[in-house]
Amino acid sequence: MNKSANTEYVIHELLRDRWSPRMFSGEEITDDDLNTLFEAARWAPSSNNLQPWRFICLRQGTPEYDKAFDCLAEFNQRWVGNAPVLILTAYKEKTPKGMDNFHAPHDLGLAVANLSIQAQAMGIAIHQMAGLNWKKAQEVFNVPEGFHITTAIAVGFYGGDPDELDDELKKSELKERKRKPVSEFVGNGQWPS
Ligand SMILES: Cc1cc2nc3c(=O)[nH]c(=O)nc-3n(C[C@H](O)[C@H](O)[C@H](O)COP(=O)(O)O)c2cc1C
Repeated sequence: MNKSANTEYVIHELLRDRWSPRMFSGEEITDDDLNTLFEAARWAPSSNNLQPWRFICLRQGTPEYDKAFDCLAEFNQRWVGNAPVLILTAYKEKTPKGMDNFHAPHDLGLAVANLSIQAQAMGIAIHQMAGLNWKKAQEVFNVPEGFHITTAIAVGFYGGDPDELDDELKKSELKERKRKPVSEFVGNGQWPS
């Protein structure tokens, strides 16, 4: 299935063609694939090169995966099992000097963006989720104090059949991808109006 963005200006095909599916092909994600994805995340820029991101990688069929699955919102539990791998993301809240690092969520986002575009180049789709009980995930995975679980990410090769989804999910899967126009969020010399 192709859900290429209908862009105002030409962008790289890796960005244009990325989307967030709720269905995946049955193809296995190998350890090499995962290492490549995390290597891409590793080379993201970050404020002061603090690299505040952390990831917990979970394979379907393991007890650890089941624990993470139990932390997901019901809406996400309905489809996430279609992906063979689940990742929990987190960031470190403080700088080494003990200051709040408010750039840390930004840097985690950059690492995930790197991972997502590397994945796209490999035919792998990722679907990020805020819909999880992060406090429960912190407890279940004994996350040390000072780190904040942020999202879960479903990872699998693009593919699968929308007919395997329930009606509501199938509808959103087939919907056109939309964005605000560039002019709405970019201001030239002034706040965007
Ligand atoms: C931080 C973040 C949280 C998200 N949370 C969820 C979620 O809980 N469940 C879900 O189905 N999609 C979730 N999404 C996916 C977005 O809905 C999706 O990226 C957006 O609709 C744009 O679609 P596209 O990625 O296909 O372009 C999330 C995406 C991001 C980046």
